[in-house]
Amino acid sequence: MAHRTALALDRRSAIRCLSFGSAALAAASASGCGEALPGTIDLGDSDLGSDAGFGLDVALDGGSGLDASVTDLGAGPDAGWDAGPASCEPTASDVTGPFFRPGAPSRASLVGAEEPGDRLEITGVVLDPDCQTPLDGAVIDVWQADAEGRYDTTSADYRLRALLMSDADGRFAFTSVRPGNYPDAGGMRPAHVHFTFSRPGYTPLTTQLYFEGDPFLAPNDSCGVCNSDEESLIIALTPEGRDGVTWWKGHFRVVLRS
Ligand SMILES: [Fe+2]
Repeated sequence: MAHRTALALDRRSAIRCLSFGSAALAAASASGCGEALPGTIDLGDSDLGSDAGFGLDVALDGGSGLDASVTDLGAGPDAGWDAGPASCEPTASDVTGPFFRPGAPSRASLVGAEEPGDRLEITGVVLDPDCQTPLDGAVIDVWQADAEGRYDTTSADYRLRALLMSDADGRFAFTSVRPGNYPDAGGMRPAHVHFTFSRPGYTPLTTQLYFEGDPFLAPNDSCGVCNSDEESLIIALTPEGRDGVTWWKGHFRVVLRS
């Protein structure tokens, strides 16, 4: 049954060396130091394994506010559009790292159109420990380094950061640029995006999302206590040309603990 859900936010591994983008291999210093990316995301169901036939159209308003809607939803995760792996395990946690900054604005893009780097489009779903029941209203904090591996920790517009909330079908989505690798502890970190997930009744999750093909995934990750060898934290990115621009698309399936 088609329905419409408004995303009105108030505060809120052998998997290696196959297709890693050159820009993301750039090494740079990780010293400290946008607005939303104008445009429209058309998130079809093909890369989500869907049999539900939904289309997710997210219109971004180019500012700090999120103007997004999920339209024509044929069915939710429990209908098989995101059945995921056969096993059912909670998503692994990972270290917070030193660059978290509270107070990020609610918006569907972490960067402005002028932000250098390959474009990134992440969709996701937040699920109950049963791996079936979608969890709405999960508050999701997202932050990452830029394409050169540098974090912005000072800007007033919270560049490369955003606050999201899962919709009625547990889904969330955002756009950004592919984060770069950066030097740390005498080595290099794999490219990653940081997340926290919070929802009443469930154990808060802090973790990092990694990408297949990154040569610095564990055991090559300079971070000795990070979990870049956890299968639940590594996703494939698929390139898609759009208006002359290559977008790297991926899907993050998140299973919380009770
Ligand atoms: Fe990091």
